[in-house]
Amino acid sequence: MANGKVDALLGIVFGDEGKGKVVDYFTPRYDIVARFAGGPNAGHTIIFEGKKFVLRSIPSGIFDEGKINIIGNGCVIAPDLFMKEAHELEDAGYTITDRLHISRRAHLILPTHRVLDRAYEAAKGKNKVGTTGKGIGPTYSDKAARVGLRVGDILENFEEKYLKLKARHEQILRDLHYTDYDITEEEKTWLEGVEYMRKFHLTDTEIEINKALAEGKSVLAEGAQGSLLDIDHGTYPFVSSSSTTAGGVCTGLGIAPNKIDRVWGIFKAYSTRVGSGPFPVELFDETGAEIRRIGHEFGAVTGRDRRCGWVDLVALRYAIMINGVTDLVMMKGDVLDGFDTIKACVAYEKDGVVTTDMPYDTEGWNAVYEELPGWKTPLSDLRKEEDFPQTFKDYIAYLEEKAGCRISIVSVSPDREATIIR
Ligand code: GDP
Ligand code: IMO
Ligand code: MG
Repeated sequence: MANGKVDALLGIVFGDEGKGKVVDYFTPRYDIVARFAGGPNAGHTIIFEGKKFVLRSIPSGIFDEGKINIIGNGCVIAPDLFMKEAHELEDAGYTITDRLHISRRAHLILPTHRVLDRAYEAAKGKNKVGTTGKGIGPTYSDKAARVGLRVGDILENFEEKYLKLKARHEQILRDLHYTDYDITEEEKTWLEGVEYMRKFHLTDTEIEINKALAEGKSVLAEGAQGSLLDIDHGTYPFVSSSSTTAGGVCTGLGIAPNKIDRVWGIFKAYSTRVGSGPFPVELFDETGAEIRRIGHEFGAVTGRDRRCGWVDLVALRYAIMINGVTDLVMMKGDVLDGFDTIKACVAYEKDGVVTTDMPYDTEGWNAVYEELPGWKTPLSDLRKEEDFPQTFKDYIAYLEEKAGCRISIVSVSPDREATIIR
């Protein structure tokens, strides 16, 4: 039997591109859907048959009852939030305990990691990252410092290990003079979450995935966050703490690079960013507010306003390069329906220097735009490419040419059905 392949669906900008929707749409084509990075900082929205779900740690393939979903070793998991998320699915009638497998190597987010997240942010003053407050940075820090707790740890001497790491965190918090917190209630629910997690298959998911591949099965790796939030390739230090790019698929699931076939790079027809950090295309005017309003650009996790701007081709080309994107997926074209003209950032400029390559430090660069006509036609009911207005087809062709990559899928509304393959 031929070896199966892994395809990856990666957010290639600042997250919230619509990964949840597309993974859910793709799931029938695959045997396994696996998250390889991040944790409950993610918020992946899936809408079908009039129902809406926002997933944080659970992969977006969970609605297809026949499919195995995996939370890989590259992820971090908060037992209390995981339990809440799983209960929501169970309440909606989905049975998940047999189909959701969790890597024993994934790291646990402790309540004190979340306090540390707040403490570190407070200490940063004006330079806050604007994290989601889910303890992501401190958990990955402990992983790198080789003191973290893994999912497998809940199976043996857990209490002792937990208390030891908690004490370490409490000492750091005292050193930071950050003592005004109370995790009593939170800790109770967290420990219930740990118990609840025992019901699931806590396994060596890298072995499971590689065995499945050897049997000819196919895997869809679901990205979280976006390439510009990657710990190595993003706008450091305004990034998340995991490897969100194609390399993270290998380390975060334990699969070899030569197993990866297609890399789907997902982006919106415009740009958004939540949290702080450089964002050269940001619009501070009425147009930015209009995109936010029409696109409902408010964080799925924190409810914060998403910063909005035109599409950024410097960022797209960079992300296509570092991820080896084979196909682009463009979301939310419908949000731009009403604009007379649409802009695309083709370069950055600072002090007379113009670059089309992503600079080391994106701070202080201004966007250089090209302007295109708007299509002024509602797109959200269209289901066939032939029905697209010519001006929208021209926008797609323009982006493909400038990005140097084919746009194979176009989405024109949140619904599962509004996904057009080209
Ligand atoms: P993710 O984190 O990448 O999964 O994306 P989010 O779920 O955080 O944000 C994407 C938002 O856009 C969600 O509210 C989706 O329901 C919505 N959405 C996805 N595709 C489309 C589309 O083509 N048009 C519109 N208008 N909304 C979309
Ligand atoms: P999905 O998977 C958008 C951002 C935060 C903050 C920075 C660091 O839904 O696309 P963290 O809590 O990870 O330490 O925050 O990263 N961020 C996201 N922005 N979408 C996400 O996930 C994000 N996950 C983290 O806003 O700027
Ligand atoms: Mg999101």
